[in-house]
Amino acid sequence: MKNLILAIESSCDDSSLAIINKDDLSCVFEKKISQELQHSQYGGVVPELAARLHTAALPQILEQAKPFLNRLCAIAVTNEPGLSVSLIGGISMAKTLALSLNLPLLAINHLAGHIYSLFLNEKASFDMGVLLVSGGHTMVLFIDKQGKVNELAKTLDDSFGESFDKVAKMMGLGYPGGNAIEKLALKATEKKLFFNIPLKHSKDLNYSFSGLKNAVRLELLKHEKLDENTKSEIAFAFQNAAIAHILDKLEKIFSLHRFKSFGVVGGASANLSLRSRLEALCKKYDCELKLVTLSHCSDNALMIARAACEKFKKQEFTNIKMDILRTRSENLGYI
Ligand code: KG4
Ligand code: ZN
Repeated sequence: MKNLILAIESSCDDSSLAIINKDDLSCVFEKKISQELQHSQYGGVVPELAARLHTAALPQILEQAKPFLNRLCAIAVTNEPGLSVSLIGGISMAKTLALSLNLPLLAINHLAGHIYSLFLNEKASFDMGVLLVSGGHTMVLFIDKQGKVNELAKTLDDSFGESFDKVAKMMGLGYPGGNAIEKLALKATEKKLFFNIPLKHSKDLNYSFSGLKNAVRLELLKHEKLDENTKSEIAFAFQNAAIAHILDKLEKIFSLHRFKSFGVVGGASANLSLRSRLEALCKKYDCELKLVTLSHCSDNALMIARAACEKFKKQEFTNIKMDILRTRSENLGYI
């Protein structure tokens, strides 16, 4: 029976393929080759390098997926938002596969993929609030019962994950910075350093992390030599202020909207400190907290495959001859 969907994710620095059974949502194949190590020495993703690495990694993974190709019913691919030179590798492979295997193409929004990572092997049910925290985005969304996405807040400058990456770069911790900062913060003992929580006294619901990043930069300038102890105190104080900022705005949003459930998605949703603060918030507002399994917070093709199952159901196929690549996506619409 031809009921498998193959999905490709290459929007940034992860080359990933997954195959899902669209009827029972089981994952039959999944593989990701991360480029973190190659970009680490530059303190961030180098687009040209990412593009080259995708062209080597994607065919390598596809070769392993060969036994499933005769059972496919569609090809899905992340088409937006992301780095154009990275997206193009996945899109070219997806179109070639769709054309040569005579299968329909499904173009999937990366952010919709992150949202569906909440329902990897279960039926999706919306009417929920969502916090999306990744390297490229920081957004609070309300998704109604019909799957219409409404934006409640977003970042005005850097994203939550990006601020971790930039602070890590300033401290010479490599890329990506989220996990490195979180680990370092755990080693802090004194905890006497504090950074101001951004926009604390503003009624605006949006986020801003650039001022906090600058405060860290100025603090680092005060130290001629950075010992491990000082580094961990700074990491702790930064993480604390960044998470407090997320929670401060969410508290305001929660008092305006009564969410039945609240999902947290994106690479930075793996942060355990953030998770536990959100648990407390949801408990206070009697709201069910939905978290993504730690293995699927960061970019992966399974979330794209899962989102593709919904598009397949609605027969929302994409014309293979269209230019579908978008580096930004303004409006998620219905997912
Ligand atoms: O979703 P993702 O894999 O890629 C994008 O769509 O951007 O998110 C990657 C981001 C990076 O900025 C990374 O530093 C951040 O997620 N991240 C974290 C943690 N783990 C990953 N940020 C804070 N704490 C973490 N534990
Ligand atoms: Zn992502």
